[in-house]
Amino acid sequence: MYYRRMGELPRKRHVQFRKEDGTLYREQVMGTKGFSGTQSILYHHHMPTAVAKASIASSCKVEFEENKELSHRHFRTKAYRETGDAVNGRHFLLGNEDLLIGVVNPTENMNDFYRNGNGDEMLFIHHGSGKIETMFGTISYRSGDYVVIPIGTIYRVLPDEGDSKFLVVEANSQITTPRRYRNEYGQLLEHSPFCERDIRGPEVLKTHNEKGEFTVLTKSRGALHKHVLQHHPLDVAGWDGYLYPWIFNIEDFEPITGRIHQPPPVHQTFEGHNFVVCSFVPRLYDYHPEAIPAPYYHSNVNSDEMLYYVEGNFMSRKGVEEESITLHPSGIPHGPHPGKVEASIGKKETIELAVMIDTFRPLKIVQHAQDLEDTQYMYSWI
Ligand SMILES: [Fe+2]
Repeated sequence: MYYRRMGELPRKRHVQFRKEDGTLYREQVMGTKGFSGTQSILYHHHMPTAVAKASIASSCKVEFEENKELSHRHFRTKAYRETGDAVNGRHFLLGNEDLLIGVVNPTENMNDFYRNGNGDEMLFIHHGSGKIETMFGTISYRSGDYVVIPIGTIYRVLPDEGDSKFLVVEANSQITTPRRYRNEYGQLLEHSPFCERDIRGPEVLKTHNEKGEFTVLTKSRGALHKHVLQHHPLDVAGWDGYLYPWIFNIEDFEPITGRIHQPPPVHQTFEGHNFVVCSFVPRLYDYHPEAIPAPYYHSNVNSDEMLYYVEGNFMSRKGVEEESITLHPSGIPHGPHPGKVEASIGKKETIELAVMIDTFRPLKIVQHAQDLEDTQYMYSWI
């Protein structure tokens, strides 16, 4: 990310910055990796440390299945119809030590504020629109958006009316653009499939100075902690730096194509610790006269592959539908369904839209994900 600023700031950092009544704003340096990662400096009306009451709201422990044979898996998440707010309504399906993956159908405004104290979150907006109020300002979202919310950011999601569906990734690390697409100054390079112009930050900084009783739920150390504040948590009058929520829309991903089949890394969009996020978008197919546009069978040694199907006819698969999730684990090969290789020959383009997450440690299945499972998927290549 690159430098942004919003609201009022003193001319220099760490000097007196006073409100109209002469009292001091409270400066907060919020950064990652100690003091060596990206950071921002925020100026609050109230001390961000002022908490009237702390308690544990609930456990966040996720139960994973055990003793299951190694197999390809398919979950129809369309069948999950429960609604709720964007945090409490999360239904986790897969996870490991590095991330949790789930879905949510948010139809309700969040009453409480929330922050993830473990790592960054990524919300892929499949359906719906709305806004997210954060301590860095308000950011609007629409379908196709990847919303990245940094660790520690206090926020709440206010969806517009109607159906909505998000794919949710909670990481234990920072989610950022691929390192190979950035130069030594952090600028996105010419061969990157997107650039800074495609990235949106908060649009408006609304400073709330009201007092009252406000709840901030913090996810950390296996629990959701409830902190009651006596001031509005979105009380920032100004901030600047490199750490803030941002959005990239999948429509702005410019596909990299070639004469023969391009490997999955050309679809890479983001990376976190031990995982990558890729975007499969509508694109022209390979143009070698003898090209096979469908992928070859592959063993993604040392990585599990999760695909979330967004739209279109996914070129190498049968039987999956929109909102399906497939998991192709490391240890066994995966690839196109019978007939799909032949069917791809001579095709000029694909309109598929999908989000892929490859993890470098095995993904485990959350126990209740089995309720959404197509148990015959493993045998669908016969
Ligand atoms: Fe693959």
